[in-house]
Amino acid sequence: VTVAVHTFEELAEPPTLKPPERALSTFRFFVAMVRNPITVWPKEVCEAPIFLQEVAGKTIAFVMHPDLLKVVFDPASEVFAKNPLEDRLYRPLMGDGILTSQGELWRGQRRAAAPLFRPSALICQVPNMVAAADRTIGKWREAGPESIQLIDPAMMRATFEVVSQALLPDDGNFAMGDIERWTTEYLAGSSWDIVYAMLKLPRWMPHPRRRRALAAARNIRSALGQLIERRLREPTARDDLLGRLLAAPDPTSGCPMASHRILDNVITFLIAGHETTYSTLTWAIYLLARSPEWQRKLRDEANAVTLGRPVTYEHLDKLLVCRQVLKEAMRLYPPAPILSRVCTNRVELGGRHFAPGTMFFVPIYAIHRHRRLWADPDAFDPSRFDEANEAAHSRYAFMPWGAGPRVCIGAAFSMMEATVILTTLAQNAWFSLTTDPEPSPLARITLRPKEAIRLNVKFADRAA
Ligand code: HEM
Repeated sequence: VTVAVHTFEELAEPPTLKPPERALSTFRFFVAMVRNPITVWPKEVCEAPIFLQEVAGKTIAFVMHPDLLKVVFDPASEVFAKNPLEDRLYRPLMGDGILTSQGELWRGQRRAAAPLFRPSALICQVPNMVAAADRTIGKWREAGPESIQLIDPAMMRATFEVVSQALLPDDGNFAMGDIERWTTEYLAGSSWDIVYAMLKLPRWMPHPRRRRALAAARNIRSALGQLIERRLREPTARDDLLGRLLAAPDPTSGCPMASHRILDNVITFLIAGHETTYSTLTWAIYLLARSPEWQRKLRDEANAVTLGRPVTYEHLDKLLVCRQVLKEAMRLYPPAPILSRVCTNRVELGGRHFAPGTMFFVPIYAIHRHRRLWADPDAFDPSRFDEANEAAHSRYAFMPWGAGPRVCIGAAFSMMEATVILTTLAQNAWFSLTTDPEPSPLARITLRPKEAIRLNVKFADRAA
């Protein structure tokens, strides 16, 4: 067992990336984009309301000010649409599902799936979330009362188990290792796709990760396609998300979703659902290991609310410290660190005029650490999200789930899942740092720690 060497007092702010002083040249912009897309913007993006940059002869805009973001995400606006760049990024894997489609096709799918994600429809998922956390604890306990554990794969596994059990309980955990590996291979090519799309290079043009990424997408689609086909051949009365999706008609047209669309959406929910919640939990646990003060508050709350019993739906509203910790983790390390849009018509924003087709980036990572929106922005302080303080923030200063009509459909699901898992872990385990260097954030569509996070895990009977 390696003994933790850092103390809370010794540690400065949690890891962040220092942005370049000035805008990068086009070449350096694209190199940085491939390496880590959250390193492309200059310091000004964390200080200004809007920032324009010339890249390969085109203007791109970074939008940070809440008033401007309100315009970009206005549900009534016909001007700002999803960036076609995303279509290129996600379509090989997610087809024409809710995340990727536009217009009526999107509206119908969103309307049909929305009732599945209401909190009242998710109550039955709580035991499934507790069970995933319990399995994690069980595995860690096998290593003894105190051990060093890799947090990322454990959280990846737990969140994958939750979403796959919710979608396809009988087949849940099918080929989980394969799906995880293929997803990582797929995402590894994402930065190349973004750069190629920005350069308007044709879709067929190869890049160093393209072949493996496309093969990974084909493998995922084929593995899940077989499961769905089986379910269509052998219908069951089981009440799971897949069954509800199969039964859900578009409320306007009354038509059920076609089977290939079901596949698109099952993949979308599986990938969008676990990659993001895994990221939230991994960073939250790491931040707690750096902050014994908050970890103690969390553990005390978990014990006081649940009395040591499994978390239930009724506990959720009372787990306030846990929600504050999770939100602060998502502020510092937003699972979706960059969103993007294009304007379909000429538009004026922040006193500037933009031609149709201009790309707008919403750098959530920078907005969440913006000098004018947050006091002491790089510090970990969950009390920013207590009742009194939370109301003081603009809706657009904290937007891990996005905003507007395309806001995350799984926001309630993810918050419920992260709260249940983190509380269950806090009931049992105490996390502290090892001698490892600090992890740094790396954007691969979602924000992952570049280096795996290893922590010392001690069980509650021996906790400090
Ligand atoms: C902490 C966890 C999560 C975060 C931070 C997150 C973040 C986001 C964000 C930022 C968007 C909007 C993208 C945009 O505007 O371009 C989004 C959309 C979406 N998310 Fe999540 N997500 C999370 C969990 C989930 C879960 C659990 C599911 C499903 C099981 C899910 C499914 C989706 C889908 C389907 C969309 C597309 C919605 C649409 O376009 O209408 N997400 N998510």
